[in-house]
Amino acid sequence: MAIDPTRVPRFAHGSRVPGWDDAADLTKAPAVVPDAATTPVPDELRVEIEAYMARYPDFRSAAIPALHAAQRLHGWCSPTAIEQVACVMRLTPGYLTAVATFYDMFDTHPKGRHDVYVCTNISCSLRGADELYEAMLSAAGDDPDFDVKSFECLGACDIAPMISLDGEYIGPLVPEDCDQIVADVKAGRPVLEAKQLRHRPAAVSAGAQPSQPPTPDRAASGPTASHNEVEGPTAGERGPERHATPRGDG
Ligand code: FES
Repeated sequence: MAIDPTRVPRFAHGSRVPGWDDAADLTKAPAVVPDAATTPVPDELRVEIEAYMARYPDFRSAAIPALHAAQRLHGWCSPTAIEQVACVMRLTPGYLTAVATFYDMFDTHPKGRHDVYVCTNISCSLRGADELYEAMLSAAGDDPDFDVKSFECLGACDIAPMISLDGEYIGPLVPEDCDQIVADVKAGRPVLEAKQLRHRPAAVSAGAQPSQPPTPDRAASGPTASHNEVEGPTAGERGPERHATPRGDG
């Protein structure tokens, strides 16, 4: 299928994702570490951040999970959220802002509660991602609860075209799935459960024997259904949760 170049929007810096579009304000005074006496931090956030800091030899390695915790609590990496993380970690807000603006999965502007990333990189594009993206935008409409964005390779090309919905990987999808996705989210139901990556068995090591035939659900889950012929850990069991992804083309 030929790709129509007019359907591949690019931003001024050449990428298909909005990257570093906000210039740094060089007139601002250098930030200082917030004063703990005058910076209120919710107890549960403080406890969570301190637990992350204890995991690493260099406490600054906890910046990403700490920002995730603040984003979960505040809905986005607001100046207040960053100030609170900075206060607990004894870092400057500028240090954490540099991290938050570098990674796509942090938002430094207000956004909808539900993150819908539609992968539009090459594998997904070849399988109809641009149509899927348009269908997802149209299904979400003006609902402020949905934050629909295109994304560069979410690393699940075997289920292309796919989306990440609040961290749940779902695919392969067709544009007609989008209304159901929105309806499931609004109803608080699991979203297209049969197409969730976590329910797909992974390939197992050489020599393993098939122990169970695929269920109808699994067999229907897409063009890579042959992966399902052997038992193995599900995707959710085989690796850590995906976290922030650096901005830029994948
Ligand atoms: S191109 Fe879409 S997941 Fe890799």
